[in-house]
Amino acid sequence: MQVIHTVAELNAALAEVRAAGKTVGFVPTMGALHDGHLSLLDQARVYSDVVVVSIFVNPKQFGAGEDFDRYPRTLDADVAAIGDKAEIVFAPSVAEVYPAGVEIPAKHAGPVGETFEGAARPGHFDGMLTVVARLFSLVNPDVAVFGQKDAQQLFLVRQLAAAEFPKLRIIGAEIVRETSGLAMSSRNRYLNAEQRDIAEILAITLATVSQLIEDGMAIDAALAMGVEMISGEPETKLDYLALVDPQTFTAVGKDHTGAALLLVAAQVGGIRLIDNHLFEI
Ligand code: PAF
Repeated sequence: MQVIHTVAELNAALAEVRAAGKTVGFVPTMGALHDGHLSLLDQARVYSDVVVVSIFVNPKQFGAGEDFDRYPRTLDADVAAIGDKAEIVFAPSVAEVYPAGVEIPAKHAGPVGETFEGAARPGHFDGMLTVVARLFSLVNPDVAVFGQKDAQQLFLVRQLAAAEFPKLRIIGAEIVRETSGLAMSSRNRYLNAEQRDIAEILAITLATVSQLIEDGMAIDAALAMGVEMISGEPETKLDYLALVDPQTFTAVGKDHTGAALLLVAAQVGGIRLIDNHLFEI
């Protein structure tokens, strides 16, 4: 495995890969890797000869007052965890990704980018898409893998790829959970033991509400019950619990049938967590 920090080194490494006729699978990350990220690398391996993972904490997707400065930067541990799951680790500086004097086109997430996570974090999805497009242009992968936990991100990346990188195949990888059901996230490390126990309510609520809807309960009534479940927990502040159509990422009507994606976002002990569950009505 090579750990490289510059675009020039990346270009040289990828030129060798392409000259050997090999396909490239790409997993963009912000580091602080956990088993969820490693499962993305495993997925990339299924679809490609060479796996490239980027580790870059992208300033453009953090708003004022968000955790950009204190976002964990753990390159040595990340490289050790990656082991032989990737051939190339690309860990550039901000100046490599956004070089002074070079205009990197800003991307706009549109209306879906202003709802749910986008409403809570204005500008987040524009910044996310800007760096993802930049990384796609640098790596030029055949396949890119994103986690389904960030369902809205995955939806927007699929839109970006369809519009601007039509040959690129986007794979959504299943959510990896702790044995408690808590979805893995780099932010879980900020939870103390008690808050981790409390955070289990998110996955429990998703399972309960989706089951109630599958069993025929009206969507509004089931969502209201879910809101009560989460709001009843100490140290927990619900942001949203919503049912969307995964094709459009807009709220479903009461008579919706087919695939439905139940989304939740809440703060536990001040740490913002998200999770979701896809099911059929
Ligand atoms: O999901 C993430 O970690 C980030 O949003 C991504 C896709 C690496 C872009 O910075």
